[in-house]
This record gives sequence, structure tokens and C-alpha cells, in this order.
Amino acid sequence: MKNFTSFADAGDYQALLNKALEIKADPFGYQHVGRNKTVGLIFFNPSLRTRLSSIKAAYNLGAQAWVLNAGADSWTLEMADGAVMNGTTQEHIKDAIAVMSQYCDVLGVRTFPTLKDREADYSEEVFNKIMKYATVPVISLESATLHPLQSFADLITVAEYKQTERVKVVLTWAPHVRALPQCVPNSFADWFSEISWVDFVITHPKGYELDERFTKGARIEYDQKKAFEGADFIYAKNWSSYHDYGQVLSQDQSWLVDTAHMNLTNNGKLMHCLPIRRNVEVSDAVLDSPAALIIPEAGNRVFSMQTVLHELLS
Ligand code: CP
Repeated sequence: MKNFTSFADAGDYQALLNKALEIKADPFGYQHVGRNKTVGLIFFNPSLRTRLSSIKAAYNLGAQAWVLNAGADSWTLEMADGAVMNGTTQEHIKDAIAVMSQYCDVLGVRTFPTLKDREADYSEEVFNKIMKYATVPVISLESATLHPLQSFADLITVAEYKQTERVKVVLTWAPHVRALPQCVPNSFADWFSEISWVDFVITHPKGYELDERFTKGARIEYDQKKAFEGADFIYAKNWSSYHDYGQVLSQDQSWLVDTAHMNLTNNGKLMHCLPIRRNVEVSDAVLDSPAALIIPEAGNRVFSMQTVLHELLS
């Protein structure tokens, strides 16, 4: 592994998953890998889980971590190549990232999409610029289109809780009050469409089709209730439209995942990346039931990051 930005970087996903389970069973047993190493984390957007789990993962591995909130903690960064910097920006991204690379052995980066310019977002304009200027391995802490550490944590969670060799995993769109990125569902599809022991189904209202580069031919079922039948895992998430880029086409409350929905499943488990709008995306009754895996799923963010750090620092 040279960088970690998508499923493709995972290589042999079963080997990486097995390594994560080994590390989780002995979280402080690999400290020789992180000793005298520094993990840099730069956030262009807010975070609770990614920020804290990354620090904890570095700590578990015997490494140190620093965090920079770009813009808030640092100088205002200029992104445009060739800019005449006589305005409000104070430091060019090419200098900032090259300098930060001097202060760490691996760099984690979070950059959200604009949801206005699909071409710029889906070409990962900002993230790729950072990759270009970094002189150390780069980990995506969520980019404009993908959130691979979340998907890897989701895979660890499904592997831990599955009761049968093969499982049915359903990614369902859920309502929300705001327009959200497609990163988490794109990434979930990018990973789960490839897992040999998963029957993967995506359900959403018409108009919410994701980029086919990530869904890779996965089954799409527009009838949510039909999709839920026999499911072992329900992954709820809102996203805005990819085709009508960044638009909220529906806030249909019948898509809210409640107990009646879960009763259609095979005693299924409920997953969500968090943060979640309770009683908008999923009901309290489901989130506070034994079916909900949201807390152990968030806990696994430590082990997805620790495993990736282990691979990049070994
Ligand atoms: N799921 C997730 O990435 O959470 P944060 O945005 O809080 O990091």
C-alpha cells in the first residue's frame, strides 16, 4: 500500500480485513511499527469520529499525531495554480503541504465536495493537488467522492456481526433536511460491490442513482420494502443527487428507517456512519434497539485507521 484513497488501495481486502481483526484483538501489540513516527492530520471540514479515531489509532500503534484545522488554525490557503496572491489568501497549498510533509511520516487529509461543480468534485481537484504536493503517503479522511476509512470500518463491523457465510447487505437512501455529499454511499458501494461473500443491494428513490464507477453494476431496487426483505444488514444514509448534482429531490418520510422497515429484514442489523439526524433518517426506536450497530461501527474506525497506518508505516 502506497496511499489509501479508495477500495483499490486496499489490495487483497480479505488479507487487510484479517489484519484489522488481528490488530483489534491486540491493539498495542504493534507499537514497534509506529515508534518514532508522526501522523499528520489536516481537516478542511468538521469531524468528530475521523479526527478522534485517527489520533487513537496512532496512539495504539505507538506513534504521535498532530492535527491542523486548515483555515481556522493556519494561514488562509490559496488553491489556484499560478495565482497572483495579492488578495485574502496567505499561503499556497503547494508550500503548505510540502512543509507539512516535513513534519510527519504519513498525512491524512479531509476535503469535502462543493456539491456545486460536479466536474471539479469528481475529479478530486483539491485532494489530487494535495497528493501531488505531499512527499509522504496520503490517507483519505474523506474526499470529495469517497470515505474509504469509513467503508473499511463498515466491512470490519459486518465481518464481526455476520451470522452466516453469505450475507445480504442493503444500502438505503434515507431522508435528510440538507443536501449531503455522495462520499459515504459511493465508498460503501465501491467496497461492498466487491466483497465475495456479500449480496449487495442499493435502494433509493428514482433520481438518486450514484456514479456507476462506484456502484459497478450492483443491483438497484427502487422499492425500499422489497429491498429490505431478508436483509442481514441495513446501511442507512442520505445523499444528494449525483445526476441533478447536489440537489435534494425528495424528503419522502416513508423512507425513514423505522421498526416496521426492520421487521421486513432477516433480524437485520442497522448501520450508519454517523452523525445521524435522529427521527429524520432512522427512528429512535431502531437506533436505541439491539439491532443498531452504530456505536461498535464507530469504534471500528480506530481499527480501520490503525490497520492502514500499520500498512503504510511498516
Ligand atoms: N463518520 C464520520 O466520518 O464521522 P465524522 O465526520 O464525525 O468524522
